[in-house]
Amino acid sequence: MNQTAELAPDRQRHAPIAAVEPFHAIAVSRVAHELADAGRDIIHMEFGQPSTGAPAAAIAEAHRVLDTEAMGYWESNPLKERIAAHYAETYGVAIEREQVILTCGASPALVLALSCLFAPGARVALARPGYVAYRNTLRALYLEPVELPCGPAERYQLTAAALAALDPAPDGVIIASPANPTGTIIAPDELAAIAAVCQARGIRIVSDEIYHGLSFVGPARSLLEHAPDAFVVNSFSKYFSMPGWRLGWAVVPRESVGAARARMGNLFLTPPVIAQRAGLTAFGCRDELEQHIATYARNRALMLAALPQLGLDKVAPPDGAFYLYADIGHLTADSLGFCERLLRDTGVCTAPGIDFDPVEGHRFMRFSFAVSTDLIEQAIARMIPWFAAQPHLNGG
Ligand SMILES: Cc1ncc(COP(=O)(O)O)c(C=O)c1O
Repeated sequence: MNQTAELAPDRQRHAPIAAVEPFHAIAVSRVAHELADAGRDIIHMEFGQPSTGAPAAAIAEAHRVLDTEAMGYWESNPLKERIAAHYAETYGVAIEREQVILTCGASPALVLALSCLFAPGARVALARPGYVAYRNTLRALYLEPVELPCGPAERYQLTAAALAALDPAPDGVIIASPANPTGTIIAPDELAAIAAVCQARGIRIVSDEIYHGLSFVGPARSLLEHAPDAFVVNSFSKYFSMPGWRLGWAVVPRESVGAARARMGNLFLTPPVIAQRAGLTAFGCRDELEQHIATYARNRALMLAALPQLGLDKVAPPDGAFYLYADIGHLTADSLGFCERLLRDTGVCTAPGIDFDPVEGHRFMRFSFAVSTDLIEQAIARMIPWFAAQPHLNGG
């Protein structure tokens, strides 16, 4: 029987929106782990996760907490104050401690943002390609993703012009700069123009700033510099190299603080005490963290230099984050199958473009270079002969 026919009328209205798709890179990664269990040497470039671990002092602080604290439900005011100070220092933006909500990563922060700002059925614009969870979290919350195709000409980013041209205006927009899967950054002027269009058209902004701090072209600017009522999400998962600690934050517009706190308390309670304590310590570990960026910069340069040897010439060089999103349309129309074959043949695990773009992603793939430089060199050496042996779709 048709599943929709069984649903109550109100659910039927939203049923198509609620179809949440899997994250295909997880399936590829599962194969990688099976191969590793069988003795294969795997290089993991499928997920955007630093392989470096938390800063040493943060780990030491975590040991201390384990030995001395009972770890109940708790929110660290010192950490909120440190985050608020970070906005003043880094972006020249004044926020109050109460606007900072500590979360278990950017993922719940995104749920808070979307559920505070929008009612079911609201239309929220986003760039395509984009982070897989945007589309799926919107759908899970019965919001309608309005995907704007962004190609190499826009360096895969939303523009003020595209937002101004949308008719009717969407209720909201998700901005990500640097972006996943491309690492591209929206130029400061364009960011200001986007904020102006949103202000003029009443479009609420959710700004995912999770890759801030990871930039190769100068610092990324916060949307808060142009739109004080933007809802910002961020995390310790990337710059701070602490993805498994599950710690992040939201900077919430003043009028949404009550709504955000209520949702946090009901949906997620608090992030782990050990992570909050270690996270505060990590703010004092800049020297160690900046070394990771030096590694990513080296890896980026090696990957960019290797692209011609892989025959990949349609790539927007990443401004930040640790990704390369490559057009492989001359080699395949099935990026998932392509990534699986690459994995089985070479042990190099990557992410298929279909995770980031349901329309064009079948001819793209994403490399994450958040691994050691040694592994990047090994991956390149394995991939060059493999790519050279792939038949071209046009027979060329
Ligand atoms: C753009 C973007 N936003 C949010 C997240 C979620 O990160 P977390 O929940 O670990 O903070 C990720 C993870 O890769 C991401 O790439």
